[in-house]
Order: sequence, then structure tokens, then C-alpha cells
Amino acid sequence: MTVSSAPGKVYLFGEHAVVYGEPAVPCAVERRATVTVSARDDDHVRVRAEDLSLNGFTVEYRGSTGDRPDVDVPAPLVEAAMGYIDAAVDQARDAADAPDAGFDITVESDIPLGAGLGSSAAVVVAGIDAATRELGVELAPREIAERAYQAEHEVQDGQASRADTFCSAMGGAVRVEGDDCRTIDAPPLPFVIGFDGGAGDTGALVSGVRALREEYDFAADTVSTVGDIVRRGEELLAEANPDADDAPEELLSELGRFMNFNHGLLEALGVSSRSLDSMVWAAREAGAYGAKLTGAGGGGCIVSLDPTPETQTALRFTPGCEDAFRAELATEGVRVE
Ligand code: MEV
Repeated sequence: MTVSSAPGKVYLFGEHAVVYGEPAVPCAVERRATVTVSARDDDHVRVRAEDLSLNGFTVEYRGSTGDRPDVDVPAPLVEAAMGYIDAAVDQARDAADAPDAGFDITVESDIPLGAGLGSSAAVVVAGIDAATRELGVELAPREIAERAYQAEHEVQDGQASRADTFCSAMGGAVRVEGDDCRTIDAPPLPFVIGFDGGAGDTGALVSGVRALREEYDFAADTVSTVGDIVRRGEELLAEANPDADDAPEELLSELGRFMNFNHGLLEALGVSSRSLDSMVWAAREAGAYGAKLTGAGGGGCIVSLDPTPETQTALRFTPGCEDAFRAELATEGVRVE
């Protein structure tokens, strides 16, 4: 039996603009998906999932998705979750040159599904790591990132960005620009996340921004201004001491200001929502250095910077906020538990 885990992520800066070649800075956070894999003697795959907002389910099937029996849980969610697990199994079989390998798989996750925190990427990354190790193959995190990206690319019909899978596999703060992904130094960042219980439709939100950008020069300028914010934010991170126990107040204050700016531009591009804006304002009023939506928007999560408990407490009393939690920068990416 092999147990691997991988973190989710938030965007410190740059979602949506990254689609048009601007840089973005996603950061891995200490909310993890844990995948337990045991090799089987046959070619069956049996999956048990807990805490995936599905009330848990168990599915057993022979090697291919088409043979999967019906299960008594909301079908679209199961299909979505199983698509990622299937793709991770295919990648592991390919990496280990073991096309008929069978597995018992248990997935546990404390990352809200589809809420902009990279839940599917974390499951795919941890799944590929655990399944390949179970077959006696140890992949470097960069190769896991590449295989996890291929898996997401397949499930999402070619729409996946490399940000989530790279960040989950490598951990820490990451810089993404086109296909170029690299880790960057960052001090500990005191993230507090608010979750509205929902999820936006990433495809529709990305299409909405594309249409605005094509119609109006000022929307195109807004997208490139997000890129300017990302570049300034990167400079701030590069100047900070990555080995410090805490990020200095001046740094948090400046990063927070850029996060607020970034949220305002995302709002202008039409990807925020009433609940996301309420949580952003509640965080700011509680004393957070800054707050913005994270991910595609439309619903899901905001991320704020606050080393004190104030923002988390305020968010818990904010209408529209279903959950609020602290999630420090995760310096470790995928790991064996
Ligand atoms: C979604 O998590 C992030 C977006 O920038 C889309 C993408 O990069 O693929 C909105």
C-alpha cells in the first residue's frame, strides 16, 4: 500500500490574464488531497472516495471507464471525479509500462471541489505518485507535474492550464507564463480562505473575458494591467527573505494592496460575484492586508492575507460564506505519507 498527498493552490495574482500569455503566481496551500493505492492481482480498479463533496462513493470496474457500473451518488459529480482518477491511472500504467495493472484506490481530500483551489489537480498528482510507486517506479515531481497536466488536459478537452498541476506537484510559490512554469522564492504567507459553498463555470467565465477583451480595448488593457500587477508582485516576493519565519509587515501590506488591485480588475472583467465581493470586503474590514477572488471566479473562494485570527472569524459571520479556514503556503508539493 502506498499513500501520497498533494496540496491545493490559490492564485496570489494573475488568473484569467494567464490565459492570454501574462504571467501568474499561484501558491500551493496546506489543504491536501490524499490518495491511498494498493496494487491488485487483476486489472480491476476499485475507487473509494471520501470528502469529495459527494458523500463518499465506491466504484469498481475493469480497466476502462465504459465498464463502470452505475452508482448511487450524483452522476455528473461522480463522472467528473472518476474522469480524473481514470486519467491518473492511465498515466501511472503508462509510466510503469504496466497497461494491465489494477488498483484499489481511496481518495480523501480537504480541498473544496471545483472552487478554484485546484482540487482535481491535487487528486491527479497524488494519484499518479501513489500508483507509480506502488508499481515500483519513482517519478520526479516535475515528471508527475507533466503527466498530471496531460491527464487534466485529456479530461478537460484541452482546456487545462499547467498552473494547478505544476503547483501541486512542486509546492511553494510558482510563476507560470505560457508553458513555462518555475518555482520562485517566497516567505511564509498567512493565507485565509473564504468559501461560498459554490463553484463558477470556468469555461463560461473564460469565454466571457475573451469576448470582452475582443470587443473593448479597455478590457484588453485591463488584462495586461493584471500582468503588470503580477510582475510587481513577483519583484516584491523576490526581494523578501524566503528563510524568514514570518513575512515582514511592509511586504504583506504591499502584496495585499496588489491583491486588492487585482480583485478590482477581475471584478471589472465580470468574473466576481456578490458572495465573493462580500467575502473580500469582510476580509478587508476585518484587517486583512488584502483580499481577492481566486481561480475562475463566479463563485467559490477568496484568498486574503492575515496573520491574525480576525479575518477567519469575520468571514464565518459573513452572509454568503460557508466556510473559512487558514491555509499557509505549502512548501512541500507531492509527498509520500
Ligand atoms: C482557473 O482556475 C484559472 C483561469 O485562469 C483559467 C486557466 O488558467 O486555465 C481562469
